[in-house]
Amino acid sequence: MTQKKPWGGRFGQATNELVEDFTESISFDHRLSHYDIRGSIAHARMLEKVAVLTGEEADAIENGLRKIDEEITAGQFEWSTQLEDVHMNIEAALSKRIGEAGKKLHTGRSRNDQVATDLRLYLRDTCDELDERLTDLQGALLKLANHEAKTIMPGYTHLQVAQPVTIGHHLLAWIEMLQRDRERLSDCRKRINVMPLGSAALAGTSFPIDREFCAELLGFSRPSRNSLDAVSDRDFVIEYANACSLIAMHLSRFCEELVLWASESYQFIEIGDAFCTGSSIMPQKKNPDIAELIRGKSGSVIGHLVSLLVLMKGQPLAYNRDNQEDKIPVFSITDTVCQSLAVFAAMVPEIKFNRERTRTAASKGYATATDLADYLVRRNIPFRDAHEVVGKAVSRAIEKSCDLSELSLTELQEFSPMIEEDVFPAMTLEGSVNARAHMGGTAPKRVLEALAAAKKMIAEPA
Ligand code: ARG
Repeated sequence: MTQKKPWGGRFGQATNELVEDFTESISFDHRLSHYDIRGSIAHARMLEKVAVLTGEEADAIENGLRKIDEEITAGQFEWSTQLEDVHMNIEAALSKRIGEAGKKLHTGRSRNDQVATDLRLYLRDTCDELDERLTDLQGALLKLANHEAKTIMPGYTHLQVAQPVTIGHHLLAWIEMLQRDRERLSDCRKRINVMPLGSAALAGTSFPIDREFCAELLGFSRPSRNSLDAVSDRDFVIEYANACSLIAMHLSRFCEELVLWASESYQFIEIGDAFCTGSSIMPQKKNPDIAELIRGKSGSVIGHLVSLLVLMKGQPLAYNRDNQEDKIPVFSITDTVCQSLAVFAAMVPEIKFNRERTRTAASKGYATATDLADYLVRRNIPFRDAHEVVGKAVSRAIEKSCDLSELSLTELQEFSPMIEEDVFPAMTLEGSVNARAHMGGTAPKRVLEALAAAKKMIAEPA
């Protein structure tokens, strides 16, 4: 049976079937149903307050909507493509259920301010959920970092061994990145938390609405200031997508390191069997597929960010139907990032570091060469000259296939007479990391302090 369109009044012909399928959004925007109902209840209560609806009408609307919400939650609600979107499906069901009062709900509003409101309510919750997941991941990393606070590994630049660092320090770097991700979400949440309702289609409404009251009911910080802007711009969605893209980019970087570390050539870590998969042909294989997939899925998140930017960039004021297309990327982004964060946080406790391997790797590649240069600087040799001296010493060590610390004192003194016996402790891995004891440095002492500070930071709102 064809359903009557709520906008059918001025139309003489039924909608073409192709058009129906092409324009519907119910197949995806049903995800906003809970928020749509919340928004409608607040709108009805506001209309009651300003005497556009009677108390009885508002009660009937609220009760009807709550029943519909229950039906939806129970999976008993029948969505109809002919009713286009979540707003019209729910409104039609309400009118069917409660009659006249249901048909009054749409007074003083439009689907344009309605959908913008729904999306903001949805994203507000999603920001909170993502914050929780980011915090969980930070907590898991913090545990691992505490466990490996003093463990030595090579620090890299250009993926070449650069200087020794502690694993605790390395993992704290990840925790920092996730903290900025939390801050970004919390910052964009402030701009999300503004209420478009009352903007109606584009110009506002002729009814004496109380927008402050409605905003308060919905927990928005304030009503929007300009109706044209409020129904049309989706910059808040783009900001959210950007914050999510940065999360995905960070996760992808971490995963790239995990993939390298788990490889035969590095053997820095072992990832638990439950978080790896095998090969259908090579029986010996244990692959870090979870890390690879998180890295791979970041591509779709970043792609969706670009879709949203392009979706918005050609739109004149005010609302255009293009905006309906924002939901597909935004839901996909949310699902991918939430899932990636959850699986990553679950995988972290299954990561075991091979301390011998990380130590051995750090003792290769002349990782303490800078420490020898710093030693000379402390003996009043200008840094540039010290750099040159150490470069020559490294060359010699390469020739002899040995480490700098394996050159004898006499040999080292050929490069600089300022070198004395006390150079050797400075060139050890421990000597190197312990020397970097300033704030933000890799010394275990500092790392332990930084871990304690991070624990506090994670427990607080970003
Ligand atoms: N379903 C639309 C959206 O997602 C909202 C409806 C506005 N439609 C309209 N014809 N004004 O943006």
